[in-house]
Amino acid sequence: MRALLANKKSVAVLDTFFGDSGKGKIVDYLASMNDSGKPFFHMVYRPNGGPNTGHTINVENKKYVFHLIPSAALISGIDCFIGRAVAFEPRCFFQELSQVLDKNPDAKICIDYNTHIIMPWHIALDNLREVSNTGKIGTTGKGVGPCMETKNSRKGFVTVEMLLPKNSKLFIDVVDNAIKKAEPELNFFTENFNGNVNEFLRSINLPLGMTLAYFFKDKKLDRDKIIEAYLEYGKKLEPMASDVLALIKNRLKSGERVLVEGTQGVFLDLDHGTYPFVTAGLTTRAGLEHAAGIYFDLCINVVKSYATRVGNGPFPTELADDLGNNLRDSGNEFGSTTGRPRRVGWLDAVALKYAVELNTRNDEKPLIALTKLDVLEGFSPMICDEYKITSNPHPKFSKEFSITEIENAKIGHCFKFERIESIKGISSFNGLPQTALNYIKKIEDITSGEIVIVGNGPERESVIVK
Ligand code: IMP
Ligand code: MG
Repeated sequence: MRALLANKKSVAVLDTFFGDSGKGKIVDYLASMNDSGKPFFHMVYRPNGGPNTGHTINVENKKYVFHLIPSAALISGIDCFIGRAVAFEPRCFFQELSQVLDKNPDAKICIDYNTHIIMPWHIALDNLREVSNTGKIGTTGKGVGPCMETKNSRKGFVTVEMLLPKNSKLFIDVVDNAIKKAEPELNFFTENFNGNVNEFLRSINLPLGMTLAYFFKDKKLDRDKIIEAYLEYGKKLEPMASDVLALIKNRLKSGERVLVEGTQGVFLDLDHGTYPFVTAGLTTRAGLEHAAGIYFDLCINVVKSYATRVGNGPFPTELADDLGNNLRDSGNEFGSTTGRPRRVGWLDAVALKYAVELNTRNDEKPLIALTKLDVLEGFSPMICDEYKITSNPHPKFSKEFSITEIENAKIGHCFKFERIESIKGISSFNGLPQTALNYIKKIEDITSGEIVIVGNGPERESVIVK
């Protein structure tokens, strides 16, 4: 790994499927690397995503879930940055910040001035749309989609900069106008709501023990409460707000290194994923580079040893049976953001090839971190390398098929593997049993890539590294 990282100033970790691949752990492992007693990476950067993401790490027998703050914030001596393509939810952020400061009181976290804020109406709309039966996507309900819609409309948006005390007058005007813009759609949903809408709003938990109902009065947005709460956030955010990109670029010029944390995965990308069952941002390498404002010298594609998906949308290798239930339990596949049981299935090489190609430059060999291989212990896994769409075989993921055709795709051909033996406690590639090595080799063949990290347990130390 040292040899791979030598001379690389910007290294990104990103996911090839639907998120939840164990990126947090890989970022945490890389961030905890040392160079003569000091952290190898000086900065960790979260350029996109929002509170919809959940990065779980286990340190000293404690589990931490991060949604907005880069998961490396627990490591002292590394500065963390939240970039301008993030959908930022202050309440979630402050909850995470207090968890970070408990463990690492010197944590330094910086947020870009231009980062867009998820406002209460975004969260309300996200949830009301999801229960209204008008094209349910299975969102996380955190308001990310509506916030990005507002951003793209370029009207009625709120950014970190607008919350700062010096801009309070502007902020109040913006809120008044934004409420006028959001209210017709909110009224439509509240008037047509099947049941008690107040109860529904109370059922939507915001972090810090609050529910969405706090920002509503008589089914209407409570303007004064919103202004008061968000200006208060602005005061607290002021010392952390900055031009993040300028800071990072300067530090890169002076020889420092940055580790970039991707969010979600290729198939949740707005353009390249399984649209419309995707998130509201760009999640491939190119999208992440765009969000970050810097190019990456090296990319590590995180591939989970089997597949999972939360939310609706195609999943041709899904195991909706007892085998799937066993795999879910074995991998503890329950959403870290919503707690929803994740859909599980075998690794999908058709999808994997498409994703890795999208994340790899022409002159590069793809590098892969294969996570959660220990979960397959005792299973005889399969890897699907061909779909059957309307009874024809298709080895390639292609947009020539409609989303419904991909949803109805069946497994055409699969590689079958022998029962995987235990890999717990193994610390080198040489020490891996043949059954695990066969699985690894097949993934390298499929992707023409190299597996440089294997995850064999939830703890930071449970990795096998090349
Ligand atoms: P949204 O991002 O909340 O709008 O949800 C859109 C789709 O992306 C849904 O299927 C979500 O379950 C999925 N999604 C969003 N963020 C994540 C993530 O971090 N991990 C896994 N799925 C996600
Ligand atoms: Mg996750």
